[in-house]
Amino acid sequence: MKIVISIGGSILAPDGADYEYIKKFSSLIRELIKNNENKIAIVVGGGKVARNYITASRKLGASEFFSDLIGINATHLNARVLIASLSDISNLEPCLTILDAGRELKNNNVVIMGGTHPGHTTDGVSAMLYEYIKADLFVIATSTDYVYTKDPRKYHDAEKLEKLSYDDLIKISGQVEMGAGSSTVVDLVAANIIKRSKIKTIVLHAADLANLKSALAGKKFTGSVIGE
Ligand code: UTP
Repeated sequence: MKIVISIGGSILAPDGADYEYIKKFSSLIRELIKNNENKIAIVVGGGKVARNYITASRKLGASEFFSDLIGINATHLNARVLIASLSDISNLEPCLTILDAGRELKNNNVVIMGGTHPGHTTDGVSAMLYEYIKADLFVIATSTDYVYTKDPRKYHDAEKLEKLSYDDLIKISGQVEMGAGSSTVVDLVAANIIKRSKIKTIVLHAADLANLKSALAGKKFTGSVIGE
């Protein structure tokens, strides 16, 4: 099975790289590729480092495009630290393009990358990579347990959604303006790709690795399912 995992930088590197978490996450990946059962493509987010540098560059007068580029640099840094833990079974350099990641996956069971171009987040990259490699499973492991009707950190009446349609997702993702570093559970570019290719997508909290393992094994898990 080909699996694409979008892993939030906010979990992997909340305040600098969380090496204990990275070790455990890596063990899970190793388990998944045992006996060449699966191929795993991992797209790593920028997290706090990205936000911090984006805020600074914006304050220094940088454009949104430039700030996105800074965010992409942060994703590459986080991708590289994950590679530090998996380099014996993955690519050695974070892939810079989706085409490179597809190529690398021919030779390795694990491929790791970060962002690619300004204008979207690593969720967008993950969804496009899913299309390109014709994957079977898409998991967005992030810093929220569910997709909510609106941002639960801002709105007390936000409702969690265990299941939602592609159009629901587009509506929810469209509520947030797409500036560099902006935070939606799934960005609008990704939401549109998920819809156009009818990608069944799982969103769950990345901190709970047992839950992630269940979801990857097709077992019961806590999180949202986006589908028809
Ligand atoms: P992330 O994908 O990390 O976004 O990219 P995120 O939603 O903050 O993810 P978490 O917090 O890690 O879960 C960080 C920023 O980098 C730029 C965007 O500005 C994005 O908000 N970026 C990233 C791009 O412009 N293009 C990319 O392909 C990836």
